[in-house]
Amino acid sequence: MSKSISGFSKLSKSKKIDWIVDTYFSNAEDATRILKQYWNSSEKLQQLHDEFIENTITNYYLPFGVAPNFSINGKLYTIPMAIEESSVVAAASKSAKFWLDRGGFKTTVISTTKIGQVHFTYKGDFEKLKQFFISVKSKLFKDTETITKNMKKRGGGIIDIKLRDKTEDIENYYQLHASFETLDAMGANFINSCLEQFAKTFKSEALVFGLFSDEEKQIDIIMSILSNYVPNCLVRAEVSCKVEDLSENGSILGETFANKFVQAVNIAEVEPYRAVTHNKGIMNGIDAVILATGNDFRAVEAGVHAYASRRGKYSSLSHAKVENGIFTFWMEIPLALGTVGGLTGLHPLVKLSLELLHKPSAKELMQIVAVAGLAQNFAALRSLTTTGIQEGHMKMHLMNILNQFEASDFEKQTLTEYFKNNTVTHSAVTEAINNLRVKN
Ligand code: MEV
Repeated sequence: MSKSISGFSKLSKSKKIDWIVDTYFSNAEDATRILKQYWNSSEKLQQLHDEFIENTITNYYLPFGVAPNFSINGKLYTIPMAIEESSVVAAASKSAKFWLDRGGFKTTVISTTKIGQVHFTYKGDFEKLKQFFISVKSKLFKDTETITKNMKKRGGGIIDIKLRDKTEDIENYYQLHASFETLDAMGANFINSCLEQFAKTFKSEALVFGLFSDEEKQIDIIMSILSNYVPNCLVRAEVSCKVEDLSENGSILGETFANKFVQAVNIAEVEPYRAVTHNKGIMNGIDAVILATGNDFRAVEAGVHAYASRRGKYSSLSHAKVENGIFTFWMEIPLALGTVGGLTGLHPLVKLSLELLHKPSAKELMQIVAVAGLAQNFAALRSLTTTGIQEGHMKMHLMNILNQFEASDFEKQTLTEYFKNNTVTHSAVTEAINNLRVKN
């Protein structure tokens, strides 16, 4: 039975580790060694990571890879990706190369509006609440001026605030529903600070609003928070080419491929079981770039999947068609991203990623991230509708299996060569490594 502890966050890092390893591990020495193995040798860099969160005891590494040769609106990019799944970077690179010779990716930012809400209850006449909202609206803007000053100077800020009656859903429930333009910032802190100020002003002004009865004056603020559902912060990514240009080295016939590909997308449009996996493939690309560029992948995930269900049924984020001999594959997705603020100016690898991407604005990053998602989806569907996913996936996974066997460099080299012409399965690799070890 493990024990509880109070004041854990106040302990030094070594004391935290001592408590953890003594409480949970049979071999405390081994556990300590593993945790410390991941500490950075630069004390300054380690301290930076320690201070990102509370109770840091070590760092958790993910591979940081790059996928070159992405042509986006005619400009070349090498896209940084932080991800553990073996085949993702390889698939992205393959897609990039494929489309490089076929006109590249085309993208447009459709909209950049973000939403935040103050959720409150009010017991009284809705007409009076509407009157109050009209009278207080300009003060809501005025009282947030210190927060919005800099954002406004750069062309952003609060776009509008609306009063929403939600009493059909929950008794006495209303909202201030605000829209924001946060430019190059993801904007979570900006939006939440504005919302909390709206809530304060709204509540205090209600207390002195002449038309309200005593009960109506008692507006109860439930919470003030941005929404990660951003259907109006939308980007489109697309590839297209003549159907015959989809043929590659004579191995796939363009028309056969295009038709099967479109069918695969159609299936994901109508079948939620398939749509979830289809979209997961898209998120393989998206999350990897989001992580590498220091953005909030949980926010993006939540928003994207809500968008995929916006018509009341979970569906594919991407679409494909063949029209007049032209194959088109595209996707529109909501992405609230930042290239200033948050980790972007703090984490050295995030700074490096952004420089690698030509220091993009948030709008440019939206386009790059959408392309990474579409490229990943293209690669997955291409494998699925031709060779099947396992061939490429297991080839990439081979190194993981070899590492499980603690294969030497010689063994890795020999078996990588061997599996170029043989099917990779866990048992085939086990057999091959055992044979090799017997021989040597
Ligand atoms: C694996 O991480 C992602 C795929 O399953 C996506 C898909 O099925 O489209 C290959």
